[in-house]
Amino acid sequence: MQSYELRQKFLGFFEKHGHKIVPSSSLLPTDPSVLFTTAGMQQFKPYYTGEADAMADFGSLNTVSIQKSMRTSDIDEVGDDTHDTFFEMLGNFSFGGYWKKEAIEYAHEFITKIVGLEISYVTVFKGSDVVPKDKESKEIWKSLGISDVREEGMEDVFWGPTGSNGPCGPTTEIYCKNANGKDVEIWNIVFNEFFCDGSREQLLEGIAKFTPLGKKGIDTGMGLERLAMIAQKTSNIFDTDLFSPIMRTIPDVELRIKRIIADHFRSSVFLISDGVLPSNKDQGYILRRLLRRAMTYAKINGFPKEGPADLIHAIIDVYKAQYRELDSNRMKIIDMVYEEREKFGATVEKGLKELEKMQKIDAKNAFFLYQTFGVPFDIIKELRAKDLNQGAFEDELKKHQELSRTASAGMFKGGLADHDPKTIKLHTAHHLLLAVLGELFGKTVKQKGSNINQERLRIDFSFDRKLTDEEKKKIEARVNEKIQEGLLVVKREMPKEEAEKIGAEMEFGVKYGNTVLVYFIEDKKGNVFSKEFCGGPHVSNTSELGKFKIMKEEAVSAGVRRIKATLE
Ligand code: GLY
Repeated sequence: MQSYELRQKFLGFFEKHGHKIVPSSSLLPTDPSVLFTTAGMQQFKPYYTGEADAMADFGSLNTVSIQKSMRTSDIDEVGDDTHDTFFEMLGNFSFGGYWKKEAIEYAHEFITKIVGLEISYVTVFKGSDVVPKDKESKEIWKSLGISDVREEGMEDVFWGPTGSNGPCGPTTEIYCKNANGKDVEIWNIVFNEFFCDGSREQLLEGIAKFTPLGKKGIDTGMGLERLAMIAQKTSNIFDTDLFSPIMRTIPDVELRIKRIIADHFRSSVFLISDGVLPSNKDQGYILRRLLRRAMTYAKINGFPKEGPADLIHAIIDVYKAQYRELDSNRMKIIDMVYEEREKFGATVEKGLKELEKMQKIDAKNAFFLYQTFGVPFDIIKELRAKDLNQGAFEDELKKHQELSRTASAGMFKGGLADHDPKTIKLHTAHHLLLAVLGELFGKTVKQKGSNINQERLRIDFSFDRKLTDEEKKKIEARVNEKIQEGLLVVKREMPKEEAEKIGAEMEFGVKYGNTVLVYFIEDKKGNVFSKEFCGGPHVSNTSELGKFKIMKEEAVSAGVRRIKATLE
């Protein structure tokens, strides 16, 4: 079954079962707390939470889509049989329409009857301290004749949330065998039962709170590439009709490298078409990294001088019927890739020579090669420094780019600093608040987590009881006093030991490099009110902040409290 048929059959099947077909949204989401659209459910988030009404907008409680998606979290795996950075996600969704029985029965019928594949095994949620075991799904699978039902935990079969909060719940996954007899996960069916007020990391750490959703929801995701692999009986996604015309345009080099080039160019084509420009931050940084990595491989392997025009045409031709915007942006895409190639080509050769000459490669000089000549991290690692530590390299990058501490974790995995002016102000207010908490309750108060967006800041801190109204008023008054004093916010770079010696606040669980940035909030005479390890950015004077107000104070877990606050 060709991939266009798989798409048609998927949409047709769910339309027949009362789902409204909804077009793919852009790869660039409206949610500012995530870099890319990573799942079909993202455009439907407000329908799960009850903020939007599916009946009013779609004339149905159920929808179906094929969503352009981008996940860079598995970028190191690209080159094997099943991983890619861009993919199309087939998904059916329900916002209070149907529940487990129908969702599993639909998936079973689609896979076994419509596409005619055999299910190898399925997984269900085995339960945790807070969410019970999913016995119901297990029973439903058994009733359909699937005997191999495996129980897994939170890490594997619990979805969400995407971004800084959102719907979440247990999942059940479907595995099928590829041509080599290897079991591959192809479909993930999520039972959205809860709203989680923190990120996925916070959820896994047990410091996010979840509350039942008003209406239960279904959210499913099936990668088209993997489904095509199983349906077309190939051993890998690169031999399917989605990739093989692209692979054919790439000269014969090591298979893994060919696959990386095909994948990275394919993602780049889709990103450019959706409006991303290569740059040094946010989505532009990821685009630049993908393009430069692929282009370096091309250079090292002596690819033809004309460049990758054939490859780009092949990518667009595979997808143009489904995504017309690619065809209309064809010349723009080619021009942009060539422009980046020119910028990069001029320096990378020098960089590769430098790399060859270097005696020893550590995070510092790896970053130098990246910063000065644009040599990508992956290439340095691959050619000269197999054990180069990505975290240490990221530390260097973080320091340089002044990424905000709240978003910098997992730069390559998709999170990035938010440079919005409101977020920057709230970030500075966050430093003042932490200092005030320390002043009032003593230095045993430690930050346990934080999250800042344009609307509010959130701080989790170690403290074992509820704050009284009086204490909250006191905190507000003291932060506002410091705002009114017009204190200076000053960034200083110093050795880590020195920053530790002067008692700068460090964030729990974060690994820092040897040289760190510390933000001081101090008066003109140098009397310091706050000092924190931080990549910034910040305002330069606290008088820019406006009025500080606590919105909420609540428990997160035993011994951890949370304050949400804003600036008016
Ligand atoms: N939202 C379901 C998935 O991406 O697997």
